[in-house]
Amino acid sequence: MADFNTLIKDWYRLNKRDLPWRQTKDPFKIWLSEIILQQTKVEQGLSYYLKFTDHFQTAEDLAKTSEQEVLNLWQGLGYYSRARNLHFTAKTIVNEHKGTFPNTYTGLLKLKGVGSYTAAAIASFCFDESVAVVDGNVYRVLSRVFDVKIAMDSSEGKKYFFDLAQNLIDKVEPALFNQSIMEFGALQCVPKNPNCEICPLESICLSKSNGTWMNRPVKSKKTSVKNRFFHFLIFQKDQTTYLQKRSGKDIWQNLYQFPLIETQEDSELNNFENYSPFPPSKISAEIVHVLSHQKIHARFYHFNQLPLLINSDWMAVKIAEIQDFPIPRLIDRYLETETIE
Ligand code: ADE
Repeated sequence: MADFNTLIKDWYRLNKRDLPWRQTKDPFKIWLSEIILQQTKVEQGLSYYLKFTDHFQTAEDLAKTSEQEVLNLWQGLGYYSRARNLHFTAKTIVNEHKGTFPNTYTGLLKLKGVGSYTAAAIASFCFDESVAVVDGNVYRVLSRVFDVKIAMDSSEGKKYFFDLAQNLIDKVEPALFNQSIMEFGALQCVPKNPNCEICPLESICLSKSNGTWMNRPVKSKKTSVKNRFFHFLIFQKDQTTYLQKRSGKDIWQNLYQFPLIETQEDSELNNFENYSPFPPSKISAEIVHVLSHQKIHARFYHFNQLPLLINSDWMAVKIAEIQDFPIPRLIDRYLETETIE
């Protein structure tokens, strides 16, 4: 009977997507692709990868750009700490590594924003180090094929899956093995309704023969999602509006937004006396924006005037210039449907 490695690599050769970061061994480009693809699907990340590699050929190019410019290019991808870490790490590469990436897993792990998954991806794809990548796809494939009942999000589980992948990895072609297992999880062994009928691993898949595949991988805790209620105030008069820069460690750090009032409960605001003698001319429907651990419920309140009272962190901005500021995807999406003038 064919073994796991042979089956999965054969499947990959036939089914892999033709993706630009698979044509290179340049650690700068591989690093960029892996940071972009964290929490982002390939279809969405692809245009950003092309844009970034077009703007920046090396870590040095990226390091000498301003953080604001990097955030602007990142606009729409979300999870902006990735972009800030990207910029920070580009500077580290230039200042502390003479512009060259570390060429080992342990060296790579020391970089900000590079965890075990990303370090393994770069070390294997660029330097053929046989260290296994373990991402969500890998947890799913291994837990199903080997019918693993240990929770993937426990410390025991993390070690178990890493050791299992590390035992399986092809020492001769580690990059091919890592790409194969991730791609297999992304395209064939998908979370919902996998088509096991056409799966080349069906004959060796223990969760298939045990009838447990739909309960794999096991997770110990449900991710708790916090609901938050955001009320954005859009003042608009004489082609001017107000924006506020988000600071602190919360979401959307350093991005710009319309002045925000956050409430504990889910109800429309109705008291604007501090800012306006008139009620809003329009209130949007609720927009729900889902992040990994938060669900944002947003409403936009339009006022055909400028505010009576201006908070210290608000700034007047020409409406036509809003696009020059990095803004959260949620607001971007709202502005795509709603013209303000
Ligand atoms: N997701 C994360 N890394 C990836 C890669 N190298 N190829 C395809 N999808 C990915």
